[in-house]
Amino acid sequence: MSDLLRDLWYFAATSAELKRGKMFRREILGEPVVLGRDDEGRAFALRDICPHRAVPLSAGRIESTNGVQTVECPYHGWRFGTQDGICKQIPSLVDGQPYEAGRIRVRNFATHEANGIVLVFVSADARFAGEPPPPPEFGLKELSEPKFVIHRIFAATMDNAIVGLMDPAHVPYVHNQWWWRPPSTGKKLKEKSFVPRERGWAIERHQPASNSLAYKWLFGGQVTTEISFMLPGYRWEVVETPKARLFTLTCLTPENEGSTRITQITYWRDAPLLDVMKPILIPAGREFLDQDGRMVDLQNSGLAYSPSMLWIDDIDVQAKWYLKLKREWTKSREEGREFVNPIEPATLKWMS
Ligand code: FES
Ligand SMILES: [Fe+2]
Repeated sequence: MSDLLRDLWYFAATSAELKRGKMFRREILGEPVVLGRDDEGRAFALRDICPHRAVPLSAGRIESTNGVQTVECPYHGWRFGTQDGICKQIPSLVDGQPYEAGRIRVRNFATHEANGIVLVFVSADARFAGEPPPPPEFGLKELSEPKFVIHRIFAATMDNAIVGLMDPAHVPYVHNQWWWRPPSTGKKLKEKSFVPRERGWAIERHQPASNSLAYKWLFGGQVTTEISFMLPGYRWEVVETPKARLFTLTCLTPENEGSTRITQITYWRDAPLLDVMKPILIPAGREFLDQDGRMVDLQNSGLAYSPSMLWIDDIDVQAKWYLKLKREWTKSREEGREFVNPIEPATLKWMS
């Protein structure tokens, strides 16, 4: 479980969290990262440890240095380019001292900002300074502004957090509030066809479960949904009618081996009923995530004894796929070759 995947893009923050001229510290894959937005409006991510004497750069300030946006360390004023991490200035140097600021660099993470979210590329090689691969494509298209965002830190490994998220069998037990899945609903046979997709899979477009009251009420008859998963930890669900679109993107980013940040970003368009309901949807979304979080905490009291776990068909097949995808990702990196999706199209059945 201690194998966090690298050479991939991870969710870092929402665009709204990055205020111009401000920065803050966040842990990502065991690294302290200063996330910010420079005075030219560009997002940046640097390792939050000054290469001089380890003070967090996030405690400094953003300054322009000869026309280049830099972060100034609060201890001795060294300045690092927001976009390349290269040291642009060592204020204490006098003529003739042989240090070249430009040879010192703090690790910088490539960023990609679109649709109101900021991703960072976490390379396996900390000194990587090349062109990162293209960022993941979720199909958000015209949905440029999140309607709301909720997040929670789970006291869980990335693997356990992901497996918990994609597990359909817990829904009738954990999320059984009256407006979503009242206990009186009863279980039904679910049969869904899965297809491999880029670094993951999708449940092909289908009618949503007839027992989710909320969808029925909000969207009426002709609703279809599609659910997708992609490494390292993205799950998105599109609910669509010929007119309206609701898009929920869940991003998991490990803070470290034992802690995982879950961010749920919700978008929609042409759904006036949702606009009216926004004040209810936000606490409802939080409650969903809290229900999962409480189950994670309970699970930890068992995991403390390192039990082995059981994976059964068909309900845990997605969990097995996730682990399979991870193994293939790691292997393809080791062997320096293209990733080959190991998943075969399949129809899975379960009661939930
Ligand atoms: S510790 Fe950052 S400049 Fe000295
Ligand atoms: Fe859940």
